[in-house]
This record gives sequence, structure tokens and C-alpha cells, in this order.
Amino acid sequence: MQLLQLKELSKNYLTKKQVICALKNINISINENEFIVLVGPSGCGKSTILSIIGDLEKKSGGKIEFNKKNIKVGYMFQEDALLPWLNVLDNCMLGLKIQKRVTEENKNYVKSLLKKYGLESFEKSYPKELSGGMRQRVALIRTLATKPDILLLDEPFSALDYQTRITVSDDVFKIIKEEEKTAILVTHDISEAISMADKVVVLSNRPSIVKKIYDIKMDKKGLPSENRKNEKFNFYYKQIWKDLDHYEN
Ligand SMILES: Nc1ncnc2c1ncn2[C@@H]1O[C@H](COP(=O)(O)OP(=O)(O)OP(=O)(O)O)[C@@H](O)[C@H]1O
Ligand SMILES: [Mg+2]
Repeated sequence: MQLLQLKELSKNYLTKKQVICALKNINISINENEFIVLVGPSGCGKSTILSIIGDLEKKSGGKIEFNKKNIKVGYMFQEDALLPWLNVLDNCMLGLKIQKRVTEENKNYVKSLLKKYGLESFEKSYPKELSGGMRQRVALIRTLATKPDILLLDEPFSALDYQTRITVSDDVFKIIKEEEKTAILVTHDISEAISMADKVVVLSNRPSIVKKIYDIKMDKKGLPSENRKNEKFNFYYKQIWKDLDHYEN
């Protein structure tokens, strides 16, 4: 079932000196439980799309249609943004605290997520005592704590080294699928996009339009690290690499 639709979405940023046309007629539809990945050249407007969906930025034109009322959005960014002076459990409770939704039930939900995803014994630990991968898992659990309908992930793995990035992509993917969430992830990494996505949306240079949308179909689709070895993987990689040709307009 469709969860949200971007229709002819456009965005102009007005600065003192100029008007920057970031997005032009973006059309994307997102189904429930779908994992969408946005790729595109630097500065093409990927973060802008997430900010508009999350209502952090106003659109200049077009429509966003949600099929539910009061849809809740959860964010996860490049930096895990955990507060160093709070322990893991308190960091995970932060969003609920801000929204004044700290109840026994919600706290138990957070604790159950920490347990399910191997962080139970780190509840009282501080972020600096965790590895980069564990911090990203904590950041995701904090995002899930408020039970969002859709997760917006803006280059969540780019601060991690390559090895950690592969394992954390598996972890985050598993959690998102198990918790049956809809997600939109932004990345510069074509391999990451293909290995995680149901659909890859390729954006053009600014002003950005949707250049191509790929339904990633593989036999025996599994965890991202397994999908990287799938025989279809190279086919999609070559196509998307071509689409992202930076010298073309
Ligand atoms: N608040 C703002 N004011 C003015 N211009 C902005 C603002 N935010 C973004 N832009 C411009 O809009 C364009 C799109 O920016 P955006 O951050 O969405 O790109 P991006 O695809 O996420 O880039 P990157 O891959 O580098 O993260 C860029 O040219 C950027 O300079
Ligand atoms: Mg960005």
C-alpha cells in the first residue's frame, strides 16, 4: 500500500545573492515497508527532499500526499548525534522525553529494542565506550523509540570505516525490516544503494529531477552484504554508474 507520494515537488532556496533552484518536478511514490534509496551528485538536493518530507523545510511547489494522518517521521544522520553525557538508555529515551511521552510502556519498548539488538548490557554505558557501529545501532533505536511511520536516513554510514560500514548496513537493514518500517536512505555509495534498496532513485545534477528509478530485483535477496555478491549486482552497478555521469547534464 502506498504511504506517501511526492508530486511535482520543487524547491528554490532564496539567498541574499541568488535563487538556487534545488529541486524541479520530483515525482516519487513510496509504499509501506519499502526501502527507497536516493543517489545523485553532491549538492543535487537529496537532503532537501528528506527535509521537506520531515517538514524541516518548506517546499516551493508541488505536493506531498500522505495516505495517513499525523504521520510520524524519524531521522538518522551521518553523525550519530548521541549526547556524550547521557548513557545509552537515556540517549534512546531522548526523543520520547522531548515529546513528553515517557511512559513505562514506551520505556519497556526501548529496553526491548536494546535487548533484541544486542545492546542490553550497554544500557548504562556512555557513547564514548561504544564502537562506531554500536553507536549507529543506538542512534537507530533512539529513532525507532518514537515509533515513526517513516525513517529518513541521511548518509548514516558515511562516518564509518569500510568494514564497519558493511556490518552496520546489515544491522540497520535487519532492524528496519524486522520492525516493518518504511525507509528512505540517502547515500553516495552505489554498492550500498543496490545492496539495501527495494528501489533506487537516481537524481540528476541540480536542479534535480528524477533521472531513473530501478526496482532492484534479485533471486534470493538477503542481507545487504549477501546482495553485494548477487549475480545481478554488477548489472545494476553499471547502469547506475552510467546514470551518475558527472560530466553530463
Ligand atoms: N539552507 C539553504 N540555503 C541556501 N541553499 C541551500 C540551503 N540548503 C541547501 N542549499 C543548496 O541546495 C542544493 C541542494 O542541497 P542539498 O543539501 O539538498 O544537496 P545534497 O544532494 O544533500 O548534497 P550532498 O550530497 O553534498 O549532501 C545545494 O546547491 C545547496 O547549496
Ligand atoms: Mg546531503
